[in-house]
Amino acid sequence: MASRQREISVSEFFLKNRHLLGFDTPAKALVTAVKEAVDNALDACEEAGILPEISVEVSDRSGKSRVIVEDNGPGIVEGQIARIFGKLLYGSKFHKLSQSRGQQGMGISAAGMYGQLTVGKPLHIISRVNGEKLASEMHVSIDTARNQPDIHRKKQLKWDRPHGTRVEMEMEGHYQKGPHSVEVYLKQTAIANPHLSITYKDPQGQELHFVRSTKKLPPRPAEIKPHPYGIELGRLIQMLNNTKSRTLLGFLVDEFSCVGRKTALKIIEIAGTHSDRKLSDRSHPRHIAHVQAAALHKAIQKTRIMAPRTDCIVPIGEKQLLDGLHKELEADFFTVTTRPAAAYRGNPFQVEVAIAYGRPGGAGVEVDATGHLRKKQAEEPPAAENLIAQKDEPVRLLRFANRVPLLYQQASCAITKAVTQTNWRGYGLHQPKGSLPVAPMAILVHVASVWVPYTSESKEAIEPYPEILKEIKLGLQECARRLAHHLRHQTQLHQEYDRRTYIEKYLPHIGAALQDILALSNAERDSTVRKLDDVLHISRTTQRAEP
Ligand SMILES: Nc1ncnc2c1ncn2[C@@H]1O[C@H](COP(=O)(O)OP(=O)(O)O)[C@@H](O)[C@H]1O
Ligand SMILES: [Mg+2]
Repeated sequence: MASRQREISVSEFFLKNRHLLGFDTPAKALVTAVKEAVDNALDACEEAGILPEISVEVSDRSGKSRVIVEDNGPGIVEGQIARIFGKLLYGSKFHKLSQSRGQQGMGISAAGMYGQLTVGKPLHIISRVNGEKLASEMHVSIDTARNQPDIHRKKQLKWDRPHGTRVEMEMEGHYQKGPHSVEVYLKQTAIANPHLSITYKDPQGQELHFVRSTKKLPPRPAEIKPHPYGIELGRLIQMLNNTKSRTLLGFLVDEFSCVGRKTALKIIEIAGTHSDRKLSDRSHPRHIAHVQAAALHKAIQKTRIMAPRTDCIVPIGEKQLLDGLHKELEADFFTVTTRPAAAYRGNPFQVEVAIAYGRPGGAGVEVDATGHLRKKQAEEPPAAENLIAQKDEPVRLLRFANRVPLLYQQASCAITKAVTQTNWRGYGLHQPKGSLPVAPMAILVHVASVWVPYTSESKEAIEPYPEILKEIKLGLQECARRLAHHLRHQTQLHQEYDRRTYIEKYLPHIGAALQDILALSNAERDSTVRKLDDVLHISRTTQRAEP
């Protein structure tokens, strides 16, 4: 046995467990690869204060796909390119706590590794940093046994972009249409990022343009320190070992948010009651034993600590989100709400909910430009890519985390749970028990956080923490109330329309009868009144008979 024991590199592990990173089927792998590259492009542009302009190109030939994503971001310095694309768990976002799309440092390198495994091609990267005369071009793959980059070719070249990055990858892939397509991912990205412009060329060579509706970049999210409530024991021990502080008091105050001197002293005092070993504010963090750290960890949970600051969260914003929805979706009714920020396990987060109801293609009653009521005819049903459900289908859920659309694992996501646990019948919708409501509608939910609790590394679903579920439900209820109000108004319009139609239908008969009455002799008048009576009688009974 002993001779068989061997170290396992992270890359070998994820190579065998590629489903954990979202590369389990060729169709999904293709969307995941596009997503990783686009997410990075957006993060990089926003961090550098550049309005993102991205182009995506996908080609697909007999099971082999090629993806090219090009951005106008800040570019990557040559010395970093190989490690970013040829090493798992390498990135700029993992160690800081701030709202970004990527967090693990395992996105684009994983896509590269999948390509390498399935078609044996390294990643092809061109990147230019502003001010550099030439761009760097590199072909990189991962040495999976060592989790280190392998550079195949490298050169400097002229590139017409002043700055930006172009990533080209080849992989086993399958291009598909429908709710899990590249188009739907990009369209949803355009909704949640109204400052983004994308050009997309699909495998048939058709170009699709998503044009920005605002030139305003979202404010840059602030970086924060961890809140003590969210810290696990292992991480606490690691922090104690790595800190520059020389005293426990200094450590607590410097390394955590919301901990001042008073709170720190309180934590240390409570920790003293949990451990026989002496623990003082002047203890050296690196000399704290495991039992003492455990006592400290317990004490933190027992101490009242201020809730975390929430200004580190940047929601899309009600106006922007509404702009994004209007520009990408056609619906009769839109409503959006941004909840106040909250926290789960010390991590600040914020929820936004929107509803788009009714397909303009559907039948209904509307008020026209002259103020008259008009009945609309149903048009032919739109394509499957339409993000609003048909009227007898379950509603479409558009889930987002830090502005990134989540396309897979819908069933296990906190957002789905919150929607199915909401009582939509109370708002006038049809809802089979424990399911999504059935209506011509899309429900959009965005969860923004400094640390989104994904259920897996592939970042497809959000863990249903009670605090997160609660916030989503409150947002849903707010939007549902406004929707119910709209639907009541629609019903009133329908009734009003029907009433007016009846009056208009019988008014000519009544008019004619009145004319007759005035022009006739007494006897004739009596018979006409009887006739009129009949007309009104018919009108009354037909009104009752018609629904
Ligand atoms: N298009 C890009 N422009 C600039 N920097 C990038 C780009 N793509 C990736 N990076 C850098 O490479 C790092 C690793 O990317 P990735 O493997 O996707 O992990 P993550 O996004 O989770 O950090 C990022 O943190 C970022 O610093
Ligand atoms: Mg990434």
